[in-house]
Amino acid sequence: MSLKVLLGVGGGIAAYKAAELVRRLGERGAEVRVVMTAAARSFITPLTLQALSGHEVRYDLLDPGAEAGMDHITLARWADLVLVAPATADLMARLAAGLADDLLTTLALATTAPLVLAPAMNHHMWRHPATQRNLARLRERGVRILGPAQGEQACGEQGPGRMLEPGEILDALALGTGSPLAGRRVLVTAGPTREALDPVRYISNHSSGRMGYALAGSLAARGAELILVSGPSALDPPPGVERIPVESALEMEAAVKARVGNCALFIATAAVADYRPQAPAAEKIKKNQTEITLRLVRNPDILGQVAALEPGPFTVGFAAETEELEAHALAKLRTKGLDMIAANLVGGETGGFERAENALLVLWPGGRKALPLSPKPRLADALADLIVERYLAYTRCP
Ligand code: PMT
Repeated sequence: MSLKVLLGVGGGIAAYKAAELVRRLGERGAEVRVVMTAAARSFITPLTLQALSGHEVRYDLLDPGAEAGMDHITLARWADLVLVAPATADLMARLAAGLADDLLTTLALATTAPLVLAPAMNHHMWRHPATQRNLARLRERGVRILGPAQGEQACGEQGPGRMLEPGEILDALALGTGSPLAGRRVLVTAGPTREALDPVRYISNHSSGRMGYALAGSLAARGAELILVSGPSALDPPPGVERIPVESALEMEAAVKARVGNCALFIATAAVADYRPQAPAAEKIKKNQTEITLRLVRNPDILGQVAALEPGPFTVGFAAETEELEAHALAKLRTKGLDMIAANLVGGETGGFERAENALLVLWPGGRKALPLSPKPRLADALADLIVERYLAYTRCP
């Protein structure tokens, strides 16, 4: 089945590249429908994009004729992926604010498909704190940003702001021949688990779910059918991601076991409690004793069980360490028989728990790569690229 791409074209000089983008998306097997902003029509005609996509180009939210064909909600549901190229500073601001003041921004709100932006603007506009704040808000929401590139701009100045070339965008999306995750199921665990002591208390940890949710968003944006088994988290699931909420390690184990069978990749980002109270009290524990003893028993090792499946998915673990990061992570990679492990320091000033930023040391049999401290959505993008690269090597040479 071909990937259905809704291409949103913003009003910037790079809009001329949309014609090439439509053509090359088609070449890679995608079905493309185009939506333009009012400003985009000053740079390229709808007729050009209609001829290349084979479908009427939409630009008016209030056009009764067009809405009578495929209305905007149906169009939003139709898309497997919404790609906005070029995304101008104004368009990014409207998307970040959640406005629905034209067809394209309305579709971006109405769709559950992953949203990917290829920004293009003058480098001062790109560097402006307002644009950077909008960028951060979009990334926080799981929107994937491709580029912009450095170089000479249409205005004659140099700097970051040039839209990526159509080929670079398609490569980043891994579409067509290089589309390893399109149609692949990926299961990600995220967040903490809660292990009940009694009906009102539990043992848990500081995981917020940020790292796992960001990774789920990055992989969904690369075409994966994404299932996110998540412990308690205040975050909303990224667009296009199916969330299965769980509380305890035993619930997480059951949710994973029920779904991992037909998954191509399994990624364990969750901070699963290693132990749980042996016998949670049926009623609230009273404070009538000066001391109480808790007996804890081992929880099942979910990651270890998945890694032992035969045949099993490409399995990526995480390692949360407070010391000797590489040695401990390497031991986990080997003893659990993983295909890859992403290790982070936790507990200190720069620890990965709860914070908006993280750094990872990624290890696999025969290789390693350090991903420097950066916001978790950006780090997740870099890790997703690495996972796709290693997964491809694994499927070519299992
Ligand atoms: O959620 P955030 O606030 O963004 O924080 C992110 C994070 C620090 C939680 C994340 O980056 C991370 O390190 N996750 C793994 C935490 C962890 O439990 O690490 P571990 O070294 O104890 O476990 C090793 C691996 O085994 C992990 O992939 C874990 O998911 C898995 N595991 C552990 C125990 C268990 N019973 N079952 C498991 O599957």
